[in-house]
Amino acid sequence: MKPETNRREFFRKAAVLTGAFSVNSLCQQVFAADLAAKSQLYKNVSPGRMAENEDFWAFIQQGYPASSSPVLNLNNGGVSPSPQLVLDAVERYNQMSNQAPSYYMWRILDQGREPLREKLALLGGCDPEELAINRNATEALNTIIYGLDLEKGDEVIGCKQDYPNMMQAWSQREQREGIVYKQISFDFPIEDDETIVNAYRQAITPRTKIIHVTHVINWVGQIMPVKKICQMAHDKGLEVIVDGAHSFGLLDFDIPDLEADYFGTSLHKYLSAPIGTGMLWVKKDKISKVWPLLCNGDPRSADIRKFETLGTRSFPLEQGIGEALNFHNGIGAKRKEERVRYLKNYWAEKALTIPGVKIHTSLKAAYSCAIAGVSVTGLTPQELGQQLLSKYKIHTTSISYGNINCVRVSPHVYTRTADLDRFVLALSRLATENGNQNIESKGA
Ligand SMILES: Cc1ncc(COP(=O)(O)O)c(C=O)c1O
Repeated sequence: MKPETNRREFFRKAAVLTGAFSVNSLCQQVFAADLAAKSQLYKNVSPGRMAENEDFWAFIQQGYPASSSPVLNLNNGGVSPSPQLVLDAVERYNQMSNQAPSYYMWRILDQGREPLREKLALLGGCDPEELAINRNATEALNTIIYGLDLEKGDEVIGCKQDYPNMMQAWSQREQREGIVYKQISFDFPIEDDETIVNAYRQAITPRTKIIHVTHVINWVGQIMPVKKICQMAHDKGLEVIVDGAHSFGLLDFDIPDLEADYFGTSLHKYLSAPIGTGMLWVKKDKISKVWPLLCNGDPRSADIRKFETLGTRSFPLEQGIGEALNFHNGIGAKRKEERVRYLKNYWAEKALTIPGVKIHTSLKAAYSCAIAGVSVTGLTPQELGQQLLSKYKIHTTSISYGNINCVRVSPHVYTRTADLDRFVLALSRLATENGNQNIESKGA
């Protein structure tokens, strides 16, 4: 190998390991070293037991400015805040870019995309040649929804509890091209995979081509048996699109293990990457047949980069993903999943003891992680959400949609158990104020 090639290879590897385009400040280096030391200290403790280790999580909380926000943010499922080191990195890239935008963005930061792709692929357990970096799950999934060739009368099966942006995209194809978009409906929580798989199976007809499934249902946090749905669909010659907006960076899994054909996600949810970042995974042999959503010189190419002709966008945000990956890897994927699930169970199990409070989500590990829905007898979801905010400065999201009526609550790794105690106390007071002293509480 020539010395020049050697050097380039060295920098490429270093970039993959340290952050796609690392601009480590002293502060970041100190934090990273402390995080590594903490991890080392607990290296023999299982992720399940680590979920309760407040020493470790107190350290993680310090990494997030959001942990000291005056408003308690319990809507991390909507969009999550970034740790300080991600914010710092974006700020530096931004400062740099604004010195001479076209030079720094297109000649310098642009060089970070390939190492970043590799780094994301390490987390996704997949081939980097199957990953396109974009701005959010909507962009990723709309790329697939609009990019697949379908004929008039071809059927797509989704469910009423999928995400609106994707349902609207399918409806638009229905209106414009005459495809048939069929929606089944679930009464969550469901603690039985076969009930879910069967519902999709029964909706299949000879005209069905695609199943669209949401990995974690955003409304109530139900984890769907995606792999089983994919296996059933493939047996019948169908393709499966997976909306992983709420799973990637939270649940510890390899994307190919889902056995889907397409997977789209945001990175600004549980990964805590900069707001406005997303990712698309397409199974290698399917890339060439998907038309890019935005122009590309070779739309039938088998190169995943054809989905990245997005025009001018924020390269600082994109490169900030590398620091979010460092932070995530520093915690450890399984530890993070177990901690967030622990936090959800921590508040939900206490809430279940309050008269008049109902939990709308299964608390079994296989069926939920971060998100749970809650309601209080005597209050609409809107009233409950509004009173949590105005009286207790607790931000949640209120849902009245079809058969779902609850307030959605989603903590993150930076949420303290003391914050959740405050939330449970607020629930208890609101329940009492609304005459629930003698009413039984109800679990999912
Ligand atoms: C299940 C699901 N899919 C997709 C999205 C869209 O994400 P984004 O707004 O980042 O495109 C969301 C957003 O909350 C979601 O909950």
